Amino acid sequence: MSKAKILVARSIFPETIARLEEYFEVESNQGDQGWSKAQLIDKLKGKQGAFTTGSERIDAEVLAACPDLKICANMAVGYNNFDVDAMTARSVLATNAPDVLTETTADFGFALLMATARRITESEHFLRAGKWEKWSYDMFAGSDIHGSTLGIIGMGRIGQGIARRGALGFGMKVIYHNRSRLDAQLEAECKASYVSKEELLETADHVVLVVPYTPASHHTIGAAELALMKPTATLVNIARGGIVDDAALAAALRDKRIAAAGLDVFEGEPKVHPDLLQVPNVVLTPHIASATVPTRRAMADLAADNLIGFLVHNKPVTPLNPAVLASK
Ligand code: GLV
Repeated sequence: MSKAKILVARSIFPETIARLEEYFEVESNQGDQGWSKAQLIDKLKGKQGAFTTGSERIDAEVLAACPDLKICANMAVGYNNFDVDAMTARSVLATNAPDVLTETTADFGFALLMATARRITESEHFLRAGKWEKWSYDMFAGSDIHGSTLGIIGMGRIGQGIARRGALGFGMKVIYHNRSRLDAQLEAECKASYVSKEELLETADHVVLVVPYTPASHHTIGAAELALMKPTATLVNIARGGIVDDAALAAALRDKRIAAAGLDVFEGEPKVHPDLLQVPNVVLTPHIASATVPTRRAMADLAADNLIGFLVHNKPVTPLNPAVLASK
């Protein structure tokens, strides 16, 4: 039997390519060329599978132009680059890469929270610039993590991991807001109490965002929400660009309406709102929350498992639209 053809849309571990080549005819983008939509369509034509990352938009136009496509396997837990309804309508399976990055991403959320509240990058820039001449009582005085109130918006697996770190490791009081309330056992394990979004914003010392991006979560935090937060509060976004109104956040940071922010994701990334680059009280990282070598390997393996599982054995590991399997 001839091998199915797949496209690997971004540069990835050579071992992943080698493994995929055992099963498929692989065209890969190891040079990591930035493809336009037309180029992506051109490359995807005649392919049955695609190994994607969060940056390739798979929508009705792409699907209509690539009728051979049967599966897109995202090497990311988030999948807002997929129009899942359009994929289901065309019987194209969508898969993502959940679970394998939960703890690593929760670690990073906590690291970003610590760096933000304790002004670590701001003080490092000061030191590197040769400005450290003497000790002073209020030099880079930030806010405490231990014993403070942590507010988590989005209490999926990663949010729960952050809650556990806060409650068990740092004695934080954890409050959360989510589309649906966790069951009592999970709440007890995370030592987290459910509150309204408004109460969370008004009472948390640190707000961490971990909600998936959907039209409904667009600008979960804008000027009105920032106005509810304490002037001493910090905000951390490890969810997706677009969850925060970055222009409104930059203005709030500039005017010290909140103390500081830590951002791993941005509206329109890899572009960053120019006003965010002008304010000192923000820690900026280039969407690296899941970036440890073992976790990125596990994510790549899972995307490959989904391609092999579906195209070779008709058994994907983490399908997002299993209706496609039922209709086969
Ligand atoms: C990263 O942002 C992911 O969704 O895995």
